Amino acid sequence: MVSSNEAFSSKLTIPQFKKLGEFIHRNYGIQMPDSKKVLLEGRLQKRIKHNNLINFTEYINYLFSDTGQTKELPFFIDAVSTNKTDFYREPHHFEFLREEFLPEFSKNNTHLKIWSAAASSGEEPYTIAIELLEFIEKNPGFTYEMLGTDISTEILQRASKGIYNLKRVDIIPLYIKRKYFLRNKNKNRKTVKVSPLLQKNLRYRTINLTAPLVGIPNDFDLVFCRNVLIYFNREMQEKVINAICAKLKPGGYLFLGHSESTTGISAPVTQVAPTIYKHTP
Ligand SMILES: C[S@@+](CC[C@H](N)C(=O)[O-])C[C@H]1O[C@@H](n2cnc3c(N)ncnc32)[C@H](O)[C@@H]1O
Repeated sequence: MVSSNEAFSSKLTIPQFKKLGEFIHRNYGIQMPDSKKVLLEGRLQKRIKHNNLINFTEYINYLFSDTGQTKELPFFIDAVSTNKTDFYREPHHFEFLREEFLPEFSKNNTHLKIWSAAASSGEEPYTIAIELLEFIEKNPGFTYEMLGTDISTEILQRASKGIYNLKRVDIIPLYIKRKYFLRNKNKNRKTVKVSPLLQKNLRYRTINLTAPLVGIPNDFDLVFCRNVLIYFNREMQEKVINAICAKLKPGGYLFLGHSESTTGISAPVTQVAPTIYKHTP
């Protein structure tokens, strides 16, 4: 047993940082430049404390042990990933969905299949679900199913609970909030929970995009893969985009994050709007 101060003061040495960085890059494609050392050190100090360990040497030994690879790895992945997300992040994607894609798609189809491939804490898939339910209200008979995946099991547990601080839903118009969110009955708790309607056709699964995409269907109409490619190098971005294209129907759409693109990447897609691509095999 150690005091929390001892664990708190433990420093990540440069060779230890390199070892963890190589492991993260090799297994998850996430780059760990030197500028991330302080961030990683801070996040892992909490794991050292949580596991009642003394320092990084003990932590790394534990992480790479058989037990650690089962029990600690999900928390380690959570510590290295950046989960920043928002409801209606990059709103032009949802405008495209509402104003262009859905009216056109529904002329010849009654069922839509969507994959939110870096779903984080759920704001992205729930925003898509709001748009689809609003569309279905005016177009009864139209149906959808959605898969939300992320490398972090921890963050997906939060996503499936669907509980958010009131401030996080500020951006959503009041009439939409009233329809799809439930206010905590205890008024002191400033949280909302997504209504079961938003969760109905959505399931979550832990998936590493840089590993073979085993068991993922190959007939999606839309894939949202936003703000995750930025963590990968060019080679890995190309590999992931091509693996995702193999899961998209011809003519399906891929949405990337605002600072991501397929420039310089060989992939069977054609850009139709900023950060929106059509699968053109
Ligand atoms: C910055 S968030 C983006 C969330 C959402 N797509 C958005 O744009 O708001 C990036 C997410 O990618 C996930 N991630 C990182 N590396 C991944 C990988 N190799 N496979 C799958 N998900 C990954 C992280 O856990 C994190 O939740």
